[in-house]
Amino acid sequence: MIKIEPTGESLGATISNVDMANLDQSAFDEIHAAWLEHLVLRFRGQTLDDTSLAAFSRRFGKLDNAPIGRGGDYPIPDRPEITIISNIIEDGKAIGGLGNSEAVWHSDMTYVDMPPKASLLYGMEIPNTGGDTWFCNMYRVYEDLPEAMKTRIAGLRCKHDSTRTSSGSLRTGFAEQYSPEEQPGEDHPLIVRHPETSRQALYLGRRRNAYIVGMSAADSDVLLDEIWDHANASPHSWAQKWAVGDLVLWDNRCTMHRRDGFDDAERRLMHRTQVQGDIRPAT
Ligand code: OGA
Ligand code: MN
Repeated sequence: MIKIEPTGESLGATISNVDMANLDQSAFDEIHAAWLEHLVLRFRGQTLDDTSLAAFSRRFGKLDNAPIGRGGDYPIPDRPEITIISNIIEDGKAIGGLGNSEAVWHSDMTYVDMPPKASLLYGMEIPNTGGDTWFCNMYRVYEDLPEAMKTRIAGLRCKHDSTRTSSGSLRTGFAEQYSPEEQPGEDHPLIVRHPETSRQALYLGRRRNAYIVGMSAADSDVLLDEIWDHANASPHSWAQKWAVGDLVLWDNRCTMHRRDGFDDAERRLMHRTQVQGDIRPAT
C-alpha cells in the first residue's frame, strides 16, 4: 500500500512504501493521481542509479535529453537523459549546472513552444545548510488574484525569455540585450488551463526579460511587476529541505520553483531528468 503524506502546505506530499524497481500499473496510477493532486511529490531514502532514475521518469512520458555541454557531449554520455545540477568543480571544470548561487522563481524551459511537463531531481550530495528548493502552487496564486486583475490579464500573452538561466547566467550563443520584440523565446497565455486537471493557473515562467505582447515595454513592466509582486507575496509555497536519497518530482505546468544559495565550500550533487511536453500551453 502506497502511503501519501501531504505537507500540510498548499502543495507537496511525501510518498512512501514504493518499490521503484517493481512498480506495477496500479501503483503507478496512484502516484500519478497524487502528483496531479499535490503538484510536487517527494520520495525519500531512494537508492537510484541513472538507469533506474531514467526508467521511473519515463513512466511519466518521453524524456528530453540533457543539453550538450561545451565539450560536445552529454554530461553522462551513455545516459543522455541525465542532467547534472551541481557546484562541484573537477579538473577546473564545472561538472553540472546552476552552481551554488540562488536560483530565482521559475518554471522550467517555458521559453519553448511545448515546455516540459515535469522534472525529477534526485539528491546525491547535499550541503549542511542552504540549497533548499521552494515550490509554489500557481493554481492558488491565480485563484487569489483580485477579480479585476484576472479580467485584465485574460487573453494577454507573455513572451518568455530564453537567453538566461534561473541563476542569471547568459546561455551560450545569446547577446546581452535585445528589444522586447526581438527577445528570443516563445509567448504563451498568462492564464493557462492544465491539460489533465482542467484547472486554471497563472503562467509566468520567470520575471527577467519577460514581455507582454503588444504593450509598450514600460507598460508591460508595470503590469508584470504587479503580477509578480502578488506571486512573490503568495503564501502558497513549500520548501523541500534535501536529504541524500530524496527524489522530487514536480508538475512544471502549474508550479514554479526557486532555490536558496549555499556555501560554495560545500558540495551539492543532483541528477535530473525532464519529461517532454506534448502540447502548447493554452487558456
Ligand atoms: C532545476 C532547478 C533547483 C535546485 O533543476 O530545474 O531549478 O534545487 N533546480 O537545484
Ligand atoms: Mn528549474
